[in-house]
Amino acid sequence: MRPAAPPDARPMAALFNRDRNNPLSAEEFFAVRHPVASWIIEAPDGQIAGWADLRAPTGSAPEDLWVHVAVDDAHSRHGVGSRLLETAEQHASAIGAWRLLAGVGEERPDAVAWALHRQYHITQRYCESVLDVSATPWALWDVVASSLAGRGAQVLSLAHFDEPELSDRLLSLLREAEADMPDPPARPASAEEWRARLFEGPRAWPETGVVITGPDGHLWAISAHNRLGERARQVEVILTAVARSRRGQGLGLAVKLAGLRKLRHAGIARVTTSTHVANHAMRAVNRRLGFRDLPASLILEKDLAAHEPKAGPPH
Ligand SMILES: CC(C)(COP(=O)(O)OP(=O)(O)OC[C@H]1O[C@@H](n2cnc3c(N)ncnc32)[C@H](O)[C@@H]1OP(=O)(O)O)[C@@H](O)C(=O)NCCC(=O)NCCS
Repeated sequence: MRPAAPPDARPMAALFNRDRNNPLSAEEFFAVRHPVASWIIEAPDGQIAGWADLRAPTGSAPEDLWVHVAVDDAHSRHGVGSRLLETAEQHASAIGAWRLLAGVGEERPDAVAWALHRQYHITQRYCESVLDVSATPWALWDVVASSLAGRGAQVLSLAHFDEPELSDRLLSLLREAEADMPDPPARPASAEEWRARLFEGPRAWPETGVVITGPDGHLWAISAHNRLGERARQVEVILTAVARSRRGQGLGLAVKLAGLRKLRHAGIARVTTSTHVANHAMRAVNRRLGFRDLPASLILEKDLAAHEPKAGPPH
């Protein structure tokens, strides 16, 4: 076992992409994953038998880390995954993490069982959905556009809101959205983190994002995208949100559809999105737009031993 290094990006990405709807290119692998630490086990022939990494994504609680383990099929069932996971868990404990989280696709029951066997338990379930852009019901747009015009609303590019200091009105829309999701993050994202996600990150694509404003300039809704690799004609909708006071009036559908129109103009053929199973409003919007559900993703968690609740003092 050894630490992973930039020249490992290509085989690591290949193993990562095997199980993913949203593949990563070798060029962007480390920039996008931005690991806290990562390890590789090499087979005797020098090929990568498996790898693991630890990450602290935006919005995670400081005591949480995310772990990912990927083992080449040719080397499975030889303890490679267990050694990698043990190393990652020990490292996480040593640097002060209390809890590890992992995302596993439901279409991999072997991987889910493997994690359950190692004291991880399932805490969340996400629907992964995909849209074939050519199959979107574009006729909806006429209805949506005339309804927006009747209310004096404007559809603007998200790129107009790319300012060195995000405006208070944009931040308050984002913070409301984050707080109202079925799985709000432990720690609200900072203005800098929102800037990275929406405008500056290696995958951000604000030119295709959309903001709907009301006649008084208030921000009513936002939809934002991430490009899945430089050359990929595939995109993920990373956020759709409507101001709390404006929900249930068709704006969720309107803003996501407006964003999809921009993606169509940019030549995008396939769009993915990930929605908490309990987010009924978002799932209703996705269904109307023609998204099809793929196998769900599970979030699994494990409390690290050193921080498990201690038994009370003996009586
Ligand atoms: C999800 C969200 C964007 C929806 O916006 P919205 O403006 O209320 O959406 P719309 O009015 O366009 O459509 C809502 C749809 O959900 C349906 N809906 C609402 N609550 C529902 C429920 N509990 N069960 C089933 N359907 C529900 C509505 O009937 C409507 O569907 P219809 O048009 O087929 O009747 C908004 O609730 C929001 O901002 N939530 C917080 C942020 C968030 O969770 N974003 C998604 C994750 S990125």
